[in-house]
Amino acid sequence: MASRMLHTAGITGVGMSFPERRLTNADLEKMVDTDDAWIVERTGIRERRLVEPGTGASHHGALAARQALEHAGVTAAEVDLIIVPTVTPDMVFPATACIIQHEIGAVNAWGFDLEGACSGFIFALQNARAQVEAGHAKRVLVIGTEIMSSITDYGDRNSCILFGDGAGAVLVERIEPERVGIIDAINRVDGVGIRFLHQKAGGSVMPASAETVANNLHTVYQEGRDVYKFAVKGMAGVTAEIVERNGMTGADVDLFVPHQANIRIIEAAQQRLGLPDSKVMITIDRFGNTTSASIPSALRVACDEGRLREGHNVVLCAFGAGFTWGACLMRWAAR
Ligand code: UT7
Repeated sequence: MASRMLHTAGITGVGMSFPERRLTNADLEKMVDTDDAWIVERTGIRERRLVEPGTGASHHGALAARQALEHAGVTAAEVDLIIVPTVTPDMVFPATACIIQHEIGAVNAWGFDLEGACSGFIFALQNARAQVEAGHAKRVLVIGTEIMSSITDYGDRNSCILFGDGAGAVLVERIEPERVGIIDAINRVDGVGIRFLHQKAGGSVMPASAETVANNLHTVYQEGRDVYKFAVKGMAGVTAEIVERNGMTGADVDLFVPHQANIRIIEAAQQRLGLPDSKVMITIDRFGNTTSASIPSALRVACDEGRLREGHNVVLCAFGAGFTWGACLMRWAAR
C-alpha cells in the first residue's frame, strides 16, 4: 500500500552484547538425553550463551544500545524513542524500555516494549521506520534483548537445546533521501499458531501460583515439528515476496540476515532466492535462537566481519510465536 512519507529512515548504527558463559552441546548431553550430532544436524547449533541467574534483559540490552550509538556517533541524549521487542522483559511492568532509558541516560526519549516473539525485531523496526518517516522522531533505538534461559525448561530436550541469551540493537535515523535506507517491509500475524508455541502460565489467563510453578508452566511450550512446517513456508515465502515485489532477484541481494531459529529453515529461504552461502548470515552455531536479539546481533557480527558496507542491499526476515512473521528490505546506511 502506498504511504505518504516525509523523510527517509535508515539503520546507522548496530550493537550487540552477549554473556560470557557458554552452554555447549556437550554440556547439554549431561543434562538431557541428547547428543551433539543430533543437535548440529537438526538445528545447526553448537553452543549458546547464558547469563548468571538474576541478570535481566535490560543489562545486555543497554550494552548493545550503547554500542549502536557509538557506531552511529550519536549520544544517548539525542535519542527520541526506544522500542524494546522482547518476550523476556525484566519485569511484567514497567517496560524494559524504561529501564534501559534510565540506564543509558536517554533523557529525551520515550519508549515502550513490543511483543512480537521471534519477529519482534522486524515488527519494531517497522515501527521505528514509520516514526522517522512521518517526522515524529529523528532517532529511534530498537533493542532486541532476551534472557531465554529464564523461560527454558532444562529438562525438556525438545526445547532446551534451542535457546540462548543476548541482545542486539540498531539505531534508526532520519537520513538524506539519496542514501535510500529502509525500502519496504512486510509484517504478518496468524493466531492459528497460538496452540503450537506459547508460555502457558504467568499471563492473565493463568497467573503464577504454586501449582503453575510445580507443573513447570512458566517455560516455552513448543510443538516443534508443526512450527517448523509453518516457519519454512512463512520465511521462504515472505523473503521471496519482498524481493520480487521490488523488482529484484537474489542476484541483487548483498546480504540476507534471517532470524536464527534453525539452520534448515534458513536454508529453505536461502534456496528459494538462490543465494550462495557467502550472502547468508549464520550465527545460530554460536548463539542458538535468541528470539528478538538474533537479527540485530547478526547485523553487528556482519559489520565486524566486514560483510556489510554502506549501499548494500540487505534483506531481513523472521518467523515466530503467534504466528508472527515478516521481512524487511533496505539499503545499508551505516558507515
Ligand atoms: O524461533 C521461533 C520459532 N521456532 C522455530 O522455528 C522452531 C521450529 N522447529 C524446529 O526447529 C524443529 O522442529 C526442532 C529443532 C525443534 C526439532 O527438530 P525436528 O527435526 O522437527 O525433530 P522432531 O521434533 O520431529 O523429533 C524427531 C525425533 C523425535 O524422536 P522420535 O519421536 O522420532 O523417536 C524426538 O523425540 O528426535 C527426537 N528428539 C531429540 N533427539 C535427540 C527431539 N529432541 C531431541 C534432542 N536430542 N534434543
